[in-house]
Amino acid sequence: MAEVSQAVISVVPDDEGKEKFKKSHHVAFYRRQIQGPNLQHRALLETLVLTEKGARLELLETATQARLLLSLSPFKCDTVRILIDELQPIKARYRVPDVMTEEPPCEQLRVETQTKDSVTLSWSSGRHRVHVCRFPFRLEILCENEVMLTFNSKSKLWFERLEDPPTSELPGDHTLWKETFRQFVDVKANGPSSIGADLCLHGFSHVYGLPEHSDNLQLRDTRGGEPYRLYNLDVFAYDLHSRLGLYGSVPLVVAHKPDRTLGVFWLNASETFVNVEYSTTDHQDDQTPPVKKRRVQPQTDVRWLSESGVIDCMVLLGPSPRQLFSQYAQLTGYQALPPLFALGYHQCRWNYDDEADVKAVDAGFDLHRIPYDVIWLDIEHTDGKRYFTWDPVLFPEPANLQRHLEKKKRKLVVISDPHIKADPEWSLYREARDGGHFVKDREGQIYRGSCWPGESSYLDFSNPATRAWYSRCFMLDKYKGSTSSLFVWNDMNEPSVFDGPEQTMPKDAVHYGGWEHRDLHNLYGFHQHMATVEGLITRSGGSQRPFVLSRSFFAGSQRLGAIWTGDNVATWDYLKMSIPMLLSLSLAGIAFCGADVGGFVQDPEPELLVRWYQAGALQPFFRGHSAKETRRREPWLFGEEVTAAIRTVIQQRYCLLPYWYTLFHQAHTSGCPPLRPLWVEFPAEQSTFSVDNQYMIGGALLACPVTEPGVKEIKVLLPGCEEVWYDIHSSKAHRGGGALSLPVTLDTVPVFQRGGSVLCRSEGSGSCTADVQQLPLSVTVALSSQAVAEGELYLDDGHSFRYRDGQMFCLRRFSMRSGRLLCRSANEEGTFDCGTIIQSVTILGLKSKPSTVVVHVSGVTDTAAAFQFSETSSKLTVHGLNLRVAADWEIQIG
Ligand code: NOJ
Repeated sequence: MAEVSQAVISVVPDDEGKEKFKKSHHVAFYRRQIQGPNLQHRALLETLVLTEKGARLELLETATQARLLLSLSPFKCDTVRILIDELQPIKARYRVPDVMTEEPPCEQLRVETQTKDSVTLSWSSGRHRVHVCRFPFRLEILCENEVMLTFNSKSKLWFERLEDPPTSELPGDHTLWKETFRQFVDVKANGPSSIGADLCLHGFSHVYGLPEHSDNLQLRDTRGGEPYRLYNLDVFAYDLHSRLGLYGSVPLVVAHKPDRTLGVFWLNASETFVNVEYSTTDHQDDQTPPVKKRRVQPQTDVRWLSESGVIDCMVLLGPSPRQLFSQYAQLTGYQALPPLFALGYHQCRWNYDDEADVKAVDAGFDLHRIPYDVIWLDIEHTDGKRYFTWDPVLFPEPANLQRHLEKKKRKLVVISDPHIKADPEWSLYREARDGGHFVKDREGQIYRGSCWPGESSYLDFSNPATRAWYSRCFMLDKYKGSTSSLFVWNDMNEPSVFDGPEQTMPKDAVHYGGWEHRDLHNLYGFHQHMATVEGLITRSGGSQRPFVLSRSFFAGSQRLGAIWTGDNVATWDYLKMSIPMLLSLSLAGIAFCGADVGGFVQDPEPELLVRWYQAGALQPFFRGHSAKETRRREPWLFGEEVTAAIRTVIQQRYCLLPYWYTLFHQAHTSGCPPLRPLWVEFPAEQSTFSVDNQYMIGGALLACPVTEPGVKEIKVLLPGCEEVWYDIHSSKAHRGGGALSLPVTLDTVPVFQRGGSVLCRSEGSGSCTADVQQLPLSVTVALSSQAVAEGELYLDDGHSFRYRDGQMFCLRRFSMRSGRLLCRSANEEGTFDCGTIIQSVTILGLKSKPSTVVVHVSGVTDTAAAFQFSETSSKLTVHGLNLRVAADWEIQIG
């Protein structure tokens, strides 16, 4: 057995039968690959053919003489796709649909050198090359002669070929065609079909990604422990610091070192394990012959193992974090631009009891002057857990309720799960049944499993016709009691099946096209999310941006909407964990993410609740949520001090919405997420590589939420020796390049604006995001040590797709140098004039009091403006400016 000790993988009889969820040693295909021999492969270089999409060649597994087909495609976006399938499978193997937005354009490959032992291929720029070694088969990706990555470096390439089922009982391994876990029997229609491969990332000692796990941001070395598991599961009150699979999966590893960021995207939707090993090698530098230098170089080995499908592995070449985000977005899509209201505060509870309760909570926000945008209804709002219906007693007039909220420009979100109560009396069930929209069991009957409504069937969202049917269920004339201000929440879509293996659907259930559930398990929630989003868009005649929250997700879910981290617990450790979890999601493209504020399970003490609101207000998706058995916890229920603290941070969130919205526009157009690990902004600073208790919000703000009780002082790492950081509350400047000790009280939320940035805030918070759109803005210019700064502001109508028309948006750039602050268009096409006014400008880090401040607006005479200057905080403030955002203007500091 290779490399992993028997102790780690042998089945421990004691825990079998007790644990609901599998460990890796319970999983037959994992055991087969880990215990199996290294299979030698030979690249048959003589079969090499250059194609329009790159190149193809055959691989021979030497022991069995079986042949695989390797296709290599260099995409124009600096990404290399390595695709391996059987040369002649007895039937097609599953290829993940719908995740890649479209196949990116390819470069033309050319053969640079070829010997009998290897071939080197290159493409246009000549900077990158692929080197294929014949025996043992290796594939290296080089940049400027340096090998960055080796595919199959440890000969772990594994490809179980499909075979016809045995006609009689098999001797030996009985798990090839049938596997048992607890009382559950999994019959494998295709027998063993697993695949795997290893990659060595040279020079890298930090890798990240692979959400969703409740663990550190930096991936751990998995030797001696569990591998990372990607298998979407409903895990109530999940354990912390665990590598077991949670609700969603993104099979993307991001590796980073000071001069390069690289990604490995493993496009496979079946159960997948990933092992990570950090090590060093004695590296021979062959660039300086004849005196060859030896140096110790770090490396990270990443081994992927999946239950079925093909090997579809894309290497994203960076080299900068920003380029990597863009490459990944070109493959799987950009973050959807959310409607503005979705960036406001959401109030949820399982459950708000009835219409009067909803109205009372809504009024509570007004009474306590706390802004909010959306109130949510959980499963109890329905008639017996039949989604698309309303409980006739508790919610007799849902449309009126929505109109009541809509008058205040607020919205309602309702839950819609993928299980459908098996009730032949219910027309929606009958329609789904008769339309063939349910997943089947292995015998071909409609699959039945238990969930909230009791016995249920599960919509087969992998079927485009089912998605289209489901989308139509959201039409206003079909979904009785819904209005255009109702939005949707997809929950339990891993899918959760209370009486299924690991509380999910059996892998031998059958989907559209005859595919087994095992092939596409991790895509189930993604496809429901897709259908719901489509439904809301169609409902509005294609004009309005949808908002749909989903618990389960896959690569590409960012195109659809928001994701949250499921059933967390109201303890300090879960609050702390929310930060690396959200950073990991953000790195993997899922930028619109959040955690239940306050903790879903159990009751938070007031201090924890306040700290959680402070953290949540600085995270993309901001929703308070609590489980059924918990005590009510609307923000005003814990005394004035707590109410005031929560009000403050929610108001601050609303004031910062112009910035958040601009960041979402950036994510939508560049792929760069709003929430960023520090190293994304400081890629060369090693000290940031393992930081996951603080993060950047865009390029301008550094946040370090307090996540421990009774804290009197907090240490904040302010990176960059050349940097200046301004405390956003006191305006005090701090030099970067070390840790700052900051005294804290319950009200303190450590946030710093980076010198060199310009930030726009709303001058007030109003009662919801629609109010914020009407308010004037203030601009904060934080000068760098070179006395320069710049930033952007994006505006549009906040809800429609009209920004796509070219003109219906406005993108402005603010830049300050040599004492002049300029406001100019950052995109000439955008001519949307929302009438927004800039009322005040604050400049931080101004060395001395100016003698004049002159405002110059194009085509208007210059005016001298009154200003205040604080010597102690080097802060200049100019009020009463009344400048149009959409106009060109400048302010000269004399
Ligand atoms: C599980 C979800 O994670 C939770 O947020 C929700 O309240 C319950 N399901 C009930 O629908």
